[in-house]
Amino acid sequence: SSEVEENDVVVVGGGPGGYVAAIKAAQLGFKTTCIEKRGALGGTCLNVGCIPSKALLHSSHMFHEAKHAFPLHGVKIRSVEVDLPAMMVQKEKAVTGLTKGIEGLFKKNKVQYIKGAGKLVSSHEVSVDLLEGGSQTVKGKNIIIATGSDVKSLPGIVIDEQKIVSSTGALSLKEIPSKLVVIGAGYIGLEMGSVWGRLGSDVTVVEFGDGIVPSMDGEVRKSFQRILEKQKMKFKLKTKVVSVDASGSGVKLTLEPSAGGPQTTLEADVVLVSAGRVPYTMGLGLEELGVKIDKFGRIEVDEHFRTNVPGILAIGDVIPGPMLAHKAEEDGVACVELLAGRAGHVNYDTVPGVVYTHPEVASVGKTEEQVKALGIAYNVGKFPFMANSRARSIDDADGLVKIIAEKDSDKILGVHIMGPSAGEIIHEAVLAMEYGASSEDIARTCHGHPTLSEAVKEAAMATYDKPIHF
Ligand code: FAD
Ligand code: NAI
Repeated sequence: SSEVEENDVVVVGGGPGGYVAAIKAAQLGFKTTCIEKRGALGGTCLNVGCIPSKALLHSSHMFHEAKHAFPLHGVKIRSVEVDLPAMMVQKEKAVTGLTKGIEGLFKKNKVQYIKGAGKLVSSHEVSVDLLEGGSQTVKGKNIIIATGSDVKSLPGIVIDEQKIVSSTGALSLKEIPSKLVVIGAGYIGLEMGSVWGRLGSDVTVVEFGDGIVPSMDGEVRKSFQRILEKQKMKFKLKTKVVSVDASGSGVKLTLEPSAGGPQTTLEADVVLVSAGRVPYTMGLGLEELGVKIDKFGRIEVDEHFRTNVPGILAIGDVIPGPMLAHKAEEDGVACVELLAGRAGHVNYDTVPGVVYTHPEVASVGKTEEQVKALGIAYNVGKFPFMANSRARSIDDADGLVKIIAEKDSDKILGVHIMGPSAGEIIHEAVLAMEYGASSEDIARTCHGHPTLSEAVKEAAMATYDKPIHF
């Protein structure tokens, strides 16, 4: 084993949290090393998360449009078929191009990249099992843990990534399953369920709770569910999976009402387990060093991302907060800025969440239920995409914009958008909230016509006055 000279910053994990922290650290003049064990940079997000899922969502949407929407727009095609291997190649191309891109950014910014699994042996030393064999000790004044998260397993369900898959297996199925059962109606279940449903699978989603995506605004999630049902996705709510038997050619699931009751069975070719993710700290040596971990397995940090052990910091999915790539990136930048004595800060109240189904569902801030529970007096302004000229002209008008504003001050508390490109147009609301804007500020901002964003302006008008077009 060989030793390298001391770093200012050593980052363990090369996902959106870790690689962004490493680049920012180097830009701020820190001598920086990033350790990643997967053999490619970009973490869960780039390799088996955000990017491949969005590639497949786009490809499957194109197929669906070609089949169902093209004729309505007067585009005639004789036959449309899925070429799954080609679709997978396209997805892989996006992933490898982007991971190589990060390697390039590391070189450009002079971040040292070590391929291997890191384990903290002291608060200033990481021992690395190198992928190429052998080991190396890396020293750092500061060690940032950015090891992310892993799929949450369910008792009695063994993921083999063939018949019983996590999101990783669901992104690489060799064949289109005729029956897909999804456990958990969250982000992954609805996105991957949409992909395979569009390609022809019969999809049933089993959800423990009484509705889909529990974190979402109640009104929006109800109409989101209706839209997905129109797309032939089936839901079994308030239902839990008791057991899964994969010993035969397919998979047999035994279900039971969440509150208890008579059991039923369900057959599937493939079962996707998407009931949440858990922080990943395995093999990091945190226990030996006395790094505090909460009851959910998350590393405890203060507002400067410092753990209870001086010199050890943590960011991203492995600490509390939404498990989202952009949140991990914000953590990474702020953490390193604070190390440099700058004023790093992450506003967790304005982290947007987007489900990339069709239509997309995007939100920022509080739901109406949360505002009510806090006892805040509020106004709601809504505008349906049915009344938006752009949405009508492209015949993509399912959904709405809903803005919740404080009654007295008109300050925006939450914005929920379901509709075409919701994940893009939400950022106007994110920026408005970041600047502490009132709903009237948005309403009085001139918006281009005809755009989908006009629905945001009209919903803002509706919070304190009347919209024009509805
Ligand atoms: P990760 O991306 O998990 O990266 C951690 C890295 O650390 C991994 O590469 C791992 O190999 C490495 N590592 C772990 N232990 C060690 C060790 N001991 N030594 C060296 N390396 C180690 N978020 C969004 O915002 N938008 C989306 O559209 C989206 N889609 C998703 C789709 C799917 C299917 C999944 C699973 C997730 C999705 N997410 C999405 C969530 C997003 O991927 C995570 O929030 C994000 O990747 C977290 O970043 P991170 O850097 O904290 O951790
Ligand atoms: P999730 O937390 O979004 O949803 C899990 C769902 O499973 C919940 O509705 C929950 O009630 C349900 N559930 C839990 N236990 C269950 C059980 N035993 N039986 C039936 N249902 C059960 O988790 P998911 O979808 O696995 O995704 C993990 C995380 O990854 C997300 O929370 C999100 O942070 C991130 N992600 C983000 C995406 C995006 O930003 N577009 C896309 C995919 C993932």
